Parts: sequence; structure tokens; C-alpha cells
Amino acid sequence: YMDHNSKQRYVLVTGGAGYIGSHTVLELLNADYSIVVMDNLVNANLEALARVEYLTGKSIYFVEGDITCEKDLEKVFQAFHFWAVIHFAAIKAVGESTQIPLEYYHNNVTGSLHLFRVMNRYKVKNLVFSSSATVYGEPDMMPVNETASLGPVTNPYGRTKLFVEEMLRDVCASDPDWNVCLLRFFNPVGAHPSGLMGECPQGIPNNLLPYVIRVLQGHLPCVQIFGSDYDTVDGTGVRDYIHVCDLATGHVAALKRLEGEESEGKRGVRSASSSPSPTPQPSSSTTTATSSIESSPLPSSTRSSSLRQGGHCMAYNLGTGVGYSVLEIISAMEKATQKTIPYKIVERRQGDVGVCTADATLANLELGWKPLYSMDDMCRDMWRWTRRNPNGYDGPLIDDDD
Ligand code: WQD
Repeated sequence: YMDHNSKQRYVLVTGGAGYIGSHTVLELLNADYSIVVMDNLVNANLEALARVEYLTGKSIYFVEGDITCEKDLEKVFQAFHFWAVIHFAAIKAVGESTQIPLEYYHNNVTGSLHLFRVMNRYKVKNLVFSSSATVYGEPDMMPVNETASLGPVTNPYGRTKLFVEEMLRDVCASDPDWNVCLLRFFNPVGAHPSGLMGECPQGIPNNLLPYVIRVLQGHLPCVQIFGSDYDTVDGTGVRDYIHVCDLATGHVAALKRLEGEESEGKRGVRSASSSPSPTPQPSSSTTTATSSIESSPLPSSTRSSSLRQGGHCMAYNLGTGVGYSVLEIISAMEKATQKTIPYKIVERRQGDVGVCTADATLANLELGWKPLYSMDDMCRDMWRWTRRNPNGYDGPLIDDDD
């Protein structure tokens, strides 16, 4: 990849061949960014990037590499002039993280540390970090907004996300040139409407929707619903499911925000918009859960005000604000597939909370971002992806029109 134009400003996307990464790369190309993807392909398939190039008609520089290997990182930072990084690369199975915590801390925390140190050396100080709603632990408000306290997190995976957020808050407080957007995903689901891109979970899925898909394909006998005695509309767990394409546009909006910060930084002034935002009001009650706890003013740890010497470290929730219970998801998938989905109620899963839905007002206010896809879209797009790619990227593409 030495023949690229060295004056060109590139965005490095780590983990960019993965489920959320590849959908984000597609939207970045559509927004005319020049992209380099670095991925170790442990939980990704290069075919995903081939599909992105096909759908956008644009090309991607791909570098196979591992963020835990500083040599791999040095090579790519020597070869390209980056102005920003979007950091997805991580392993993310909650259950597995309790079995092999050292692997999770090595890959997710040490790997991130290597990446940030190399970024610092090459003066690349604009970063979008894919974080997770799991950093809120047992939320002290519902829907959750960015003023909610962080932790305690109930699993090593979630702790790696919290630790990396804390590292980034310290980096921003130490150096005014760093600008960071922490994007806290709620429950990513769905697939590109073309049916050409989607999630390829390995083994028995931990997450609900991939599990439901396996049952619909006849690979698993029935959905096990983890508890029906929660304080929710029908007793089953309520979550904020967000379409992967909405997550992708959220990352483009965050990158645009960093471009704004960068140019303001160059002019040595921060615009009014970069001063602490007005205290976000909790959104109205969701379809299945209502909030009674008032939100408190943004603590400075969440948002460095323009008065502080530090750079900007801004956290945003990426969710829809609408909660769906497990039973509601099952009926939405039955409607989208016109099939019956067998299930049985079993005991609660360790570490689960009853309700977790987002207040994404701040991302709308400050990033101008809004989720566009409905639950019906999420179900329909997932099923189209599954029908056309019964074995994910490993198998043949079935030409099965709707
Ligand atoms: C959703 C709901 C379960 C499976 C996790 C991670 C979080 C993030 C998103 C990475 C819950 C219920 C599930 C099943 C079920 N990942 N369920 N039967 O736990 O909200 O979040 O994925 O960032 O960090 O914690 O998602 O899909 O596992 O569960 O009843 O077979 O479905 O109890 O209510 P979760 P999930």
C-alpha cells in the first residue's frame, strides 16, 4: 500500500472488517472519507470489506494486523498520514470474558494502550472509541443519559470498556490537542438493507437476536428466555435495540464533530457549542419502562468544559430511547419471518439487569444524529441477510429476492 497519495488525510478504522466496523466503513466511504482498515480477522471476514467496496464503488486500504503488536501499528502509522482513528478492535463476549479475563485485558486494554501511545507519537489525536452501555453497570436512572454514574460493571469485558474510557479521560485532561468521542452502544442488531452485509456470530450466540436467528434456521431448538420476573411490561428483560446502520451514521457524525473541534483548536478558540452542553432532560418514558429519577447536571468528568486546559473527551449514548422486551422481540421476528419461534422461560442470567434503555438526546443535540431505523426494519434486514447468506460470509450468496 505504499503507492497511496501521502498528502491524503486518512482515517484508520481498527476492527473495521467486523460487524459494526464494516457497516461504519461503508458510511464513512459514502461520506467521502479515505479509509485504512486494520483488523486481525480473528472475528471478521475480509469478504465483508469486499461487499463494502461493491456497495460503495470505492476502495479501502486493508492492513492485516493486531493492535497488541506495536510493530504492526508502527508500520501502518509510518505508511499513512492519519488525522483520526475509529477504534472498534476488541473481543466482546461477556460470558467468555469471565472465563478468560487475561485475554480480554490483554486484547482490549493493552491493545488500546499500544494504539493510543502510537497515535500520540505520530501526533494523531482525534479518536472515536466504540464503548458500551455496559459501562453504566446497574444504571441509577432509566432511560440512561450520560450523567449516570459509571460502574460497577459486572463482567471483565465491560470493565475493559470502562478502563479504556478512563484512560482516554486522563489523556484528554493531560493534553489539549486530544479530542475524543466515546460512543456508548446499547444493543446493536440488524444488517445492511442490501442483504449483503450482516453479523456472523461464531458458535452459540450470547446475544438474543443472533440466537433467535439460529432457532429460525433450525440450528437451535428453541429460544431460552432468561427470566420473566423482571419489573417490565411482560416480566422479560427490556433493552434498547439499535440498527447497525444507525450506529454507523453515529460514528460519521462523531467524526464530523472531531473535525469541528480540530479546526477550532487550530484557531485557538473553542466555539460556544464546545462549552458544557445544557443538562440533558431524560426523554419521555419509553414504551415499556418509565423513569422517575431526575438527571443531575453533567459532571465535569463526563465533559471537559472549554475552561479546562485539557482536550475534549465527550461521551454519547447511541440508542433509540425505545425499549423492547424479549417477548416483544420474538413477536417482532415472527412477524418479519412469518414463522413461529419456539421458546421457554428459564432462570435469570447472571449479571443481567431488568431494563436498560438509552436517552440519546445529547448525541442528537451535539452531533445532530438521530436513529432512523425501526424495530420492523431491524428484523426485516436481519432476516434478509440470513436468507441470502445462510452461512454468513463463509458460504455462497443466495440470490433470494424478498
Ligand atoms: C438482551 C436481552 C437477556 C439471550 C450485551 C452486552 C453488552 C453489549 C450488548 C457489547 C436480555 C435476553 C438474551 C438469550 C435471553 N455487548 N436474552 N435469551 O445482555 O443486553 O448486552 O450485548 O458491547 O455489553 O452485555 O444483550 O442480547 O445478551 O440480551 O432471554 O438467549 O435478551 O436477558 O434481557 P445484553 P443480550
